[in-house]
Amino acid sequence: MAGPQEQIEVIVRHIAVETQDIRSFVLERADRNLLPAFRPGAHIDVEPVPGLIRQYSLVGSPADRTQYMIGVKKEPRSRGGSSAMHGALQEGSLLKISPPKNNFALDDTCGRCLLLAGGIGVTPLLSMAQSLALRGEKFELHYFVRTSADLAFSMLLSAPQMKPHVFFHFGLVPPALNDFLQILLREAACDDQIYMCGPTAFMESIRVAAADEDWSQDRIFHEHFSAAPSPLPLEGDSFVLRLLASDLELVVPPDRSIVEVMRDAGIEIATNCEQGICGTCVARMVEGDPDHRDMYLTDEEHDNEQLFAPCVSRAKSRLLVLDL
Ligand code: FES
Repeated sequence: MAGPQEQIEVIVRHIAVETQDIRSFVLERADRNLLPAFRPGAHIDVEPVPGLIRQYSLVGSPADRTQYMIGVKKEPRSRGGSSAMHGALQEGSLLKISPPKNNFALDDTCGRCLLLAGGIGVTPLLSMAQSLALRGEKFELHYFVRTSADLAFSMLLSAPQMKPHVFFHFGLVPPALNDFLQILLREAACDDQIYMCGPTAFMESIRVAAADEDWSQDRIFHEHFSAAPSPLPLEGDSFVLRLLASDLELVVPPDRSIVEVMRDAGIEIATNCEQGICGTCVARMVEGDPDHRDMYLTDEEHDNEQLFAPCVSRAKSRLLVLDL
């Protein structure tokens, strides 16, 4: 992170609700000077409350140095970062940021850029798209989300210079996702490049499709966005899992997932990502106090419809009953 001498004090000029769980923040320098220039794909360290530092991609156009825009998704298992951004900041709040850094730079010399975004992974690709649009370059931004309600930054994406380049994909999951990617990458030219950001399983689907279509690795660039701040730990106490349809009770130990325990017992359950991202394994919960760890279901689905992703989620109670 930046040292104290490199920090910039900014004021939160505007906060917008982009989706149910994503907010955008417009930051301006507190001393009203211009902000440092940045190249597409850059991010900044943000300190929403003293001592808590998180990285967020710069979403706005690199041509505009009067303000930075970032997008923050509220994570259900937030370790403080997204909760602080959503809960502690208001318009007018002051906070510290670092100058821009870039581990995901756009190569100006390539052919057409294919920008492939999964969910909140669209954020670093937005500055790339705006820069390419401004320069009149050929590019495509493919934005994959669950439903139209999950579309963030629609104002930016519907700007006249962006519109012809932007393609939305709703609810596209494997195997349909893989089929689409294969066709997209098959039709690309040999100097096209891929810039991708999104959940691990999403990026893995792109890698597989690219390999199938003989893309070389040096034409593929990514920024990692994981569903959780770190690999989901399976800590916690053991609990009893009662499977209604199978008429079976199993003990889930602290170091095993529900899906693993079911498989050990010979009960097959359809899965795909096994990271709480795709929704393939989702089941109905009948009883228990759930510890939801997935990124697929909304808070409302967790609460009202009692849906549960057994590949990552666990129980806080001694007994969990699933309709499986
Ligand atoms: S297998 Fe993807 S959410 Fe469980």
